[in-house]
Amino acid sequence: MKKPVIAIDGYSSTGKSSISKVIADKLGLIHLDTGALYRGITWFAIQNCMNEDSSIDLQKLFSYLDQIELEFRNSGNELILYLNHIDISKQIRTTEVSDNVSIVAKQKEVRDFLLQSQRSLAEKGGIIMDGRDIGTVVLPNADYKFFLTASIDERTNRRYFELAGMGIQADREQVKQNLTDRDKIDSEREIAPLRQAEDAIVIDNTELTKEETIDLILSHIQKI
Ligand code: DC
Repeated sequence: MKKPVIAIDGYSSTGKSSISKVIADKLGLIHLDTGALYRGITWFAIQNCMNEDSSIDLQKLFSYLDQIELEFRNSGNELILYLNHIDISKQIRTTEVSDNVSIVAKQKEVRDFLLQSQRSLAEKGGIIMDGRDIGTVVLPNADYKFFLTASIDERTNRRYFELAGMGIQADREQVKQNLTDRDKIDSEREIAPLRQAEDAIVIDNTELTKEETIDLILSHIQKI
């Protein structure tokens, strides 16, 4: 029997990736955190394509795209992102990357660059992919689609503690501002904006624990 293809979209810090990882383990699926790919390209841009005013030289980035190789490698039960053979799993979570990623992710050249590889990974089934446009653009025919949302204060807390857990000190107000700004850019961009697919199941997990959210998603998958 072909294993399912599951799309998980939603706002920043709704737990999409950590929830998808557990569901992947439980159902024996591959998990792809597509946000990490956009963060990886942003990290590359910060290293190689900065203007003097600290903005990203997008034309330069586009001209370098074919030199970027992004790859996930297994380490224990963690997937570690490598950029041109260097582990960048920690770097992609820095506030510098968070502050620039939505501008990079808005660009058609960047989205086109990542689209085909995301689709080919799903061809054989057995995958759960989380992001912003998975149910609408990347995998419109996914077997199951979920859209996660939660209040901004709850999401701020989650991101703040996630950063603290990684040893990254952040200012709570700045974390909140970054989430608000990214949600706005991600939702209002022209190409593949963040929006709920018509056939997605919406889950507001403001008041739910991670485990409760996982159980709810699994109950839908088992029911259909
Ligand atoms: O899931 P995340 O917060 O790590 O994603 C980082 C950024 O990448 C997010 O602000 C928007 C962008 N992104 C996207 O545009 N499309 C995706 N499928 C995944 C992420």
